[in-house]
Amino acid sequence: LRRVRVHHLRQAKERGERITMLTAYDAPTARIFDEAGTDVLLVGDSVADNFLGHATTLPVTVDDMIRHTRAVTSAVRRSLVVADLPFGSYEASPAHAHATAVRMMKEGGAHAVKFEGGRRVAEHVHLVVSSGIPVMGHLGFTPQSENVLGGKRVQGRGDEAAERLSEDALALQEAGAFAVVLEMVPAPLAERITEVLSVPTIGIGAGPACDGQVLVWSDMAGLTDWSPRFAKRYAEIGATLGAAARAYNDEVRSGAFPTDTHSFAE
Ligand code: KIV
Ligand code: NA
Repeated sequence: LRRVRVHHLRQAKERGERITMLTAYDAPTARIFDEAGTDVLLVGDSVADNFLGHATTLPVTVDDMIRHTRAVTSAVRRSLVVADLPFGSYEASPAHAHATAVRMMKEGGAHAVKFEGGRRVAEHVHLVVSSGIPVMGHLGFTPQSENVLGGKRVQGRGDEAAERLSEDALALQEAGAFAVVLEMVPAPLAERITEVLSVPTIGIGAGPACDGQVLVWSDMAGLTDWSPRFAKRYAEIGATLGAAARAYNDEVRSGAFPTDTHSFAE
C-alpha cells in the first residue's frame, strides 16, 4: 500500500485519472475514508461550522486544527492528509503562514497544508513550499472571506472576475502550489482553469471538468437535514443514527437491552 504523495496527484492529472478528496476530522471516519481508497483527506476548517457548532469557519483556532489533524493522521495509511490553516493564522505575512504551517506539520502530523487566496498569498505559498511543506491553494468562494464576499456566492461570474480568478490560479501554481481547490465557480470557468494549469484542480461546486472533487463528508453522507446544492448525498447516516438511538432508547426503557450476552458472569 503506497502512500499518496503530491507527485501522484500531478501524475493522475497527466493520465486523466480523477482525484478523490473528502474532509475528515477524527480518527474513525479518517480510517473509513482511507480504507475506502480516498486519495486526499482534508482536515478542513469546515470542522467549525459542521462539527463544533460555530456559525462560520472563522472561530476555529490553530490548536483546534492541530487536535483534529493529529486524530486524522493517526488513523491514515494511504491517504494524503492536508490541513487547513484557519482564519487569522497566516494572512499577515509569508512568515506568519510559515510559522503556522510548521505547527500543522510538527504537531498535527499533516502531510501538506491548504490556505485561502490567490495573488495576495502567492509569496506565502512560495515561502512555505520552499521550506518543505506542500501547499494546496483555495480559490473561488473562500469561506474565511465571506464577510467581504457578501455571503456564500458563486465567484468568477463575468469576464473581469473570471480573468482575476484565472490569474490567481496561475499565480498559485507559479508560487509552487501542488493543487488548487475551486469552490463555487461556474463550470465553464473551472474547465478553462483546469486546462490552463499543469497542477490539478479540485472542484467543489465547480462542475465536472476539474481534475478532482472534494466534499465535506457530512454533506456527502447525509449527516444533517441540509446539504448544499452542489453536494450529493451518498447515504442518509443522520437518519440511520437517529433510528439506532431510538431503538436503543426503546430497548433500555423496555428492558430488552442488555441481555445475558451483554453481561458478565460471576
Ligand atoms: O474546510 C473545508 O472543508 C474546505 C473544502 C470545502 C475545500 O476547505
Ligand atoms: Na476550508
